[in-house]
Amino acid sequence: MEPDLVVAMDDLHGFATPAGSRLGRPLIVKAVTGSTNDDARSLAAAGAGHGTAVLADQQTAGRGRLGRAWSSPAGENLYLSVIWRAGLGETIPPTMTLAAGVAVSEALDRFTPSPTRVKWPNDVRHRGKKLAGVLTEAMFRGAQPTAVVLGVGVNVRGGSVAPELADIATTLRAVRGSDLSRAEVLGALLSSLDEALSALMNDGFAVIRARLLARCETIGARVSVGGVTGVATDVDDDGALLVRDDEGAVHVVRSGEVR
Ligand code: BTN
Repeated sequence: MEPDLVVAMDDLHGFATPAGSRLGRPLIVKAVTGSTNDDARSLAAAGAGHGTAVLADQQTAGRGRLGRAWSSPAGENLYLSVIWRAGLGETIPPTMTLAAGVAVSEALDRFTPSPTRVKWPNDVRHRGKKLAGVLTEAMFRGAQPTAVVLGVGVNVRGGSVAPELADIATTLRAVRGSDLSRAEVLGALLSSLDEALSALMNDGFAVIRARLLARCETIGARVSVGGVTGVATDVDDDGALLVRDDEGAVHVVRSGEVR
């Protein structure tokens, strides 16, 4: 790391990618960037290999799902993007985004006093407040998928949670009542993402689906999503949300914001 990074990310000093994790090799650390997802996409386009990861102390153009901005102040949180290439076939499983959400939720459980939950498809929340989000973006050569960028933002210490967001977002520090280093969280994330995405690629969606259902707060809730209102009953084999409306019709929802 360059000296300014040691200052900017003092709590990352001495970080080493966990033994056994193929993700975070190499780990490229930036003091400030536009979006780590954009950096990872550029690196992937230039041939960077599976597991290459980009971490930034600050993003000036952080992006969330559905075209939203992702507030990314310096010195507070984790902004991580990982290039995934292993096992990509002719199609990219939509379930990759769900597996990433499960991985982040399971990783953050090591740091929270009670379990985190997944809000379909991949928001990670603690007691109904958002702790982390995942933005997966696929890259293609023609029709052939070449890489998926797994972008993860975790509210670790604060900063991004402005007072007006206090009702809908929180931080690891707030839910623990004590500080923790981003290095600890980063190590857990890299290991967990590697394990869950590998399990999906090697064994299929069934086991990840079971892990998702065990922690998905959306199932059983009354929701509005994609123009449909009803009760979310299940996640199908493709990762779509099944919503039963008041007439009993079951709708298959593939994307959207659950309200
Ligand atoms: C969401 O919940 O809407 C997804 C948020 C994803 C934010 C992360 S931060 C690292 C990576 N770089 C980005 O620009 N976005 C993702």
